[in-house]
Amino acid sequence: MTQEATTYHIPALLKPSVDGLDIRPDGTYVDVTMGGGGHTREILSRLGPDGRLLGFDQDEDAERNIPDDPRFTFVRSNFRYLRNFLRYYGVTRIDGLLADLGVSFHHFDDSERGFSFRFDGALDMRMNKRAGQTAADVVNNYDEERLARVFYLYGELKNSRRLAATLVKARANKTIGTIGEFLDIVKPLFGREREKKELARVFQALRIEVNQEMDALKEMLQAATDALRPGGRLAIITYHSLEDRLVKNLMKTGNVEGTIQKDFFGNIQSPFRLVNNKVLTPDEEEVARNPRSRSAKLRIAEKKETEEKNNDH
Ligand SMILES: C[S@@+](CC[C@H](N)C(=O)[O-])C[C@H]1O[C@@H](n2cnc3c(N)ncnc32)[C@H](O)[C@@H]1O
Repeated sequence: MTQEATTYHIPALLKPSVDGLDIRPDGTYVDVTMGGGGHTREILSRLGPDGRLLGFDQDEDAERNIPDDPRFTFVRSNFRYLRNFLRYYGVTRIDGLLADLGVSFHHFDDSERGFSFRFDGALDMRMNKRAGQTAADVVNNYDEERLARVFYLYGELKNSRRLAATLVKARANKTIGTIGEFLDIVKPLFGREREKKELARVFQALRIEVNQEMDALKEMLQAATDALRPGGRLAIITYHSLEDRLVKNLMKTGNVEGTIQKDFFGNIQSPFRLVNNKVLTPDEEEVARNPRSRSAKLRIAEKKETEEKNNDH
């Protein structure tokens, strides 16, 4: 691994996630979150000369990590457009897809991107710097009810209503443009001892809303389910319970809502077989080496050999 890639990001659950893809050397794979390229390079190292890998990232900064490899195609796009890009590149079936969700260390460590409350700077948080709304747009323009819902749903914050009301009151005097201004308003709402944890939740909620992460994930998971060949694998790493719930639902029931459909005999009908019944998490050694991997959860599923009728589109 190059030094630059190491500083850009340290991949979580690298070996178990790529092992989970059970790579066929001549297969076609997708890494929908290329980032620093750790998982991408590991997949390439297991592919033969006829293998193929498509790597997505919506952040143009990831372009500096594109491997120089003829088997690799970089797609600078949101992975919610997976279906369209597979079609564009003439891919009809994939053998496996890996997703390592959320943001990279690069995002948290770049003071200009606005993802971290360790730095002052623009309240931005867009993974795609050319995309629409910023976190400042959300906190200045959403009505109180909608803001409270964002903090409650995506940050699981108990004082989401108070938080929203405080922001609405503050912005009536002055637009909130920077992280410093934002922190001055919200910090007094949290006790000293839990301040960092709660702020992390506030920032997570805004980031999820700004990047429409839940909708993008749902769309990508549905497209991936349709594109996987029978016997193909999904390996998904999540970092918070909301993402994990969608992935778990999909793998168990074939839909992100988790709606169970049973056959005549009462068996749950799902296009997937769970490869690991229990979620996989980093071992102590990995957490010691890479403390930011602590919350990572890996789920792996295999598309069943016979495609069930309700999943034919
Ligand atoms: C946790 S990092 C992945 C790190 C990567 N596995 C590695 O080994 O370096 C997540 C990456 O996915 C990208 N990303 C997150 N959501 C995305 C989406 N909806 N579409 C495209 N890229 C996305 C982020 O920009 C970030 O670079």
